[in-house]
Amino acid sequence: MKNPYKISTLVLALLWLSTIGVFGYFFVFGVARMGPDQREIINVTSGEKQFLLKEMRQLLEATQQINEAMGNGEREQAAIAAESVGMGMVQELAAVESTILLKLPVPMKELGLGTHREFDKLARTIRSDASEKQVMKEMGELMTRCTACHASYRLP
Ligand code: HEC
Repeated sequence: MKNPYKISTLVLALLWLSTIGVFGYFFVFGVARMGPDQREIINVTSGEKQFLLKEMRQLLEATQQINEAMGNGEREQAAIAAESVGMGMVQELAAVESTILLKLPVPMKELGLGTHREFDKLARTIRSDASEKQVMKEMGELMTRCTACHASYRLP
């Protein structure tokens, strides 16, 4: 019993480090396991799954609206649809369900956030004097993120 404070400080420091370590591990790798189709299954709760799938359907809806509006020459409508799933949407989601973000592996987070960022960029392109061909090209590039993420990850 030379210095009990020293020992307890050491124990607390170790506890603190291991907590940070575990937190860091989950932050980087998320909670996932490999599924039978070689896609990683992200282990979210059923409520979080519903939440994510709803977000997905909004993405698909926006994509449909952008195509239809562009086809009708209503560029402002198309830009509004693109913006509706931009970074503003992420802020709304993060406010409600920030724990979901913690559960996603980092590459998936990047793909997801990148998709919303690209929709904001697409809105700017639509509002610029870019040709329809350029808009289509950007849309095609943006959608490689949808297909890449779907090819690598799934929900339970
Ligand atoms: C960061 C990853 C990621 C990105 C990016 C992404 N998705 Fe998804 N999406 C998923 C996952 C995971 C599922 C669930 C698939 C499963 O469990 O088989 C899903 C499911 C869906 C579904 C099914 C919804 C339902 O109700 O079942 C739709 C539609 C969809 N995505 C559309 C899109 C569109 C459109 C884009 C691009 C604009 C997109 N997603 C981008 C991860 C992503």
